[in-house]
This record gives sequence, structure tokens and C-alpha cells, in this order.
Amino acid sequence: AALLRRQASLTGKHVLVTAGPTREMIDPVRCLTNPATGTMGFALARAAARRGAQVTLISGPTWLPTPPGVTRIDVTSAQEMYEATLQHAPTADFIFMAAAVADYTPVETAPSKLKKTDDELVLRLRRTPDILAELGRRRRPDQVLVGFALETDNALANARNKLRHKNLDWIALNRLNEPGAGFGTGTNRLTLLHRSGHQEELPLLPKDEAAEVLLDRVLTRYADSNA
Ligand code: CTP
Ligand code: CA
Repeated sequence: AALLRRQASLTGKHVLVTAGPTREMIDPVRCLTNPATGTMGFALARAAARRGAQVTLISGPTWLPTPPGVTRIDVTSAQEMYEATLQHAPTADFIFMAAAVADYTPVETAPSKLKKTDDELVLRLRRTPDILAELGRRRRPDQVLVGFALETDNALANARNKLRHKNLDWIALNRLNEPGAGFGTGTNRLTLLHRSGHQEELPLLPKDEAAEVLLDRVLTRYADSNA
């Protein structure tokens, strides 16, 4: 039915989107990563560009083609994504942090290929910087900050905590154990949570439609609060 309420314009606005997985190198030929494909972030970038925004898309490794009219910056590691995102954030009016950023990276990357000598191998990992939390600390009052959350248990409570602790306007919750949701499915069942407490469950949608509806909700509330 009328899922799309308005088609608000983004002309003159700068939209920053992150997408895809990150890749943390163990040695020159092995890495830690996750199954994210970048589909959701690329769909958001495409939808924002279609509405006239200047779009910067910071992408981890993916085979997806760059949407028309979008400026793409390719990165590999969480640290690289952190640097590129913080560099472009100050001029952004809307930031969508759709990337699946690795939480841990090897303490050291071996300069040459590790040989399989022992039966067991212990990797030492350290936390990566939380990009979204840093954006939340540095945000301008007029900047709209949208995060994503991937949860399996206590989904709503965990998402609400992330919304508050990272100082976000919105968080889009993806419940991995619901049919049709998550990695590589092509569809999404998002729950949108706003900092005001407002909550909306979206139906199961193709990711490009979920992106349109998310953008629509964010823009509608933005227009209402700046009216
Ligand atoms: N995120 C980020 N930098 C990180 C980790 C996550 O910017 N190093 C962002 C993600 O892009 C997402 C949001 O934070 O928009 C929530 O990511 P998620 O993995 O669900 O939560 P975490 O805060 O990493 O906590 P946990 O994985 O322990 O649930
Ligand atoms: Ca995480």
C-alpha cells in the first residue's frame, strides 16, 4: 500500500553512506571479514542520488557497481573506513552507517605468509575504532545520524541501547533470525527506531525498497522538525 509517503527532495544536501564488509588482514593472503555484500548501503546511495543529493559512498570490498551520480571511495580495513568516514563527515547533512565493520583486527599482520606448522593457532585481536560512536561524539546539531544494528537476541533492547549510547537519530534494526532477513537474502525486515521512542516495523521488502522507505522516513521527520 502507501509505504512511501512523500518523495522529498535532497537537492543541495550532502549524504554520506558507508557500505559493505571490512577486511582485516592476518597475513598477505588471509583475512577476517563477514558475509555483508553492501546491498543495503548501495541501495541507499542510489536512492539518495536519485533525489538530487551529492552522495559520498565509502565502501568495503564488494563487487557491486557504483550507482549513477555517486562518488565512491573504496576502503579495505575498519581503520581505513574510520579515516575516510571522519574525513567526509564534517560536511555531511545525513550519514547512513550501513557498513558491517569488523569489531576486531589482528594485533599484528604478518609480513609474509604464515605456514601451517602447529595443530592450533591463536590469533591476538584488538578492538577496532567504533566509527559510528565517534560520529555521534563529533556530530553537528543539524546533522542526521542513522545507524544499523544486527541482532540475534534481545534485538529491540540492544538496538535501543546502541541508539542512545552512539547518540543517533535513528537506528535500523535487522533481526538475523527472522525469515528473509540478513546477509545475502536480497530482502530485509527492518524495524526503525527513532530517538524520540517512535518505532515502526517495516514489512519484508527487497533491499532497494527498504532503502527507499528508510530514506523516506528519515526525510519526512527531518522536514517536519525543520518546518
Ligand atoms: N559500527 C561502527 N564501527 C564499528 C562497529 C560498528 O561504525 N567498529 C557501526 C555499524 O556500522 C552499525 C552500528 O555501529 O551502524 C551497529 O553495529 P553492530 O555491529 O550492530 O553493533 P556494535 O556496536 O558493533 O556492537 P556488537 O557487534 O557487539 O553488537
Ligand atoms: Ca559489531
